[in-house]
Amino acid sequence: MDVKLRVWRQKNAGSHGTFEMYEAKDINPNMSFLEMLDVVNEGLTKAGKEPIAFDHDCREGICGMCSCVINGEPHGPEYKVATCQTYMRSFKDGETITVEPFRAKAFPLIKDLVVNRSAFDRIIAAGGFISASTGSAPDGNAMPVPKQDSDLAMDAAACIGCGACVAACKNASAMLFVSAKVSHLNILPQGKPEKDKRALAMVEQMDKEGFGSCTVTGSCEAVCPKGISLSFIAKMNRDYFVAMVKSGK
Ligand code: SF4
Ligand code: FES
Repeated sequence: MDVKLRVWRQKNAGSHGTFEMYEAKDINPNMSFLEMLDVVNEGLTKAGKEPIAFDHDCREGICGMCSCVINGEPHGPEYKVATCQTYMRSFKDGETITVEPFRAKAFPLIKDLVVNRSAFDRIIAAGGFISASTGSAPDGNAMPVPKQDSDLAMDAAACIGCGACVAACKNASAMLFVSAKVSHLNILPQGKPEKDKRALAMVEQMDKEGFGSCTVTGSCEAVCPKGISLSFIAKMNRDYFVAMVKSGK
């Protein structure tokens, strides 16, 4: 198949960006979207031109590095998949595909399709951990966890920290990401001792980073490659409210 690409090119955060047109010819429909970009970049490099910068790592939907907005949708047209799991067979032969970076004030652009998502790392560093003493692995039955809780915690822990939820939200809210990260620890007995501190610290850091507020439109859930549910936002709001009351803030 042949496709035309309308790609956002921008040298760095301080320069003016613009869309540029490229052609990708003889593309195998079973190639991933990123493999197609590799082919385009090979051609650009051979022609002595600057290749398109884009983020990627695992290319199997687990690391959260890939981050393109394809035809206006973070991670592209397929449901519950990351950009690296989007295949060219999802597009029509001859189609013009628009490719942009995730756009949000809290994700400053680095180059072309690459944005800086270290705001997420700082939110995790604020409270996305448990302060347990390490040592040898505890006995599996030492702390029983109800099946319902372990399932729910696993659902929340599926978040790969990609930031598509922020890119899809009209307010660039990070509530879906933060609620997943707060919840997967707050639900488990090991995370409960620091539950209040965690909810307060992570929400405060999220606000400091300049993410917008949540107006529950659900656009985040719709683009999330891991299907993180909006219900985690409601859960985090409850945890945060309880923590605020207890702390007398
Ligand atoms: S909640 Fe979903 S969209 Fe948001 S960072 Fe996690 S995996 Fe990505
Ligand atoms: S490259 Fe790792 S999730 Fe896409």
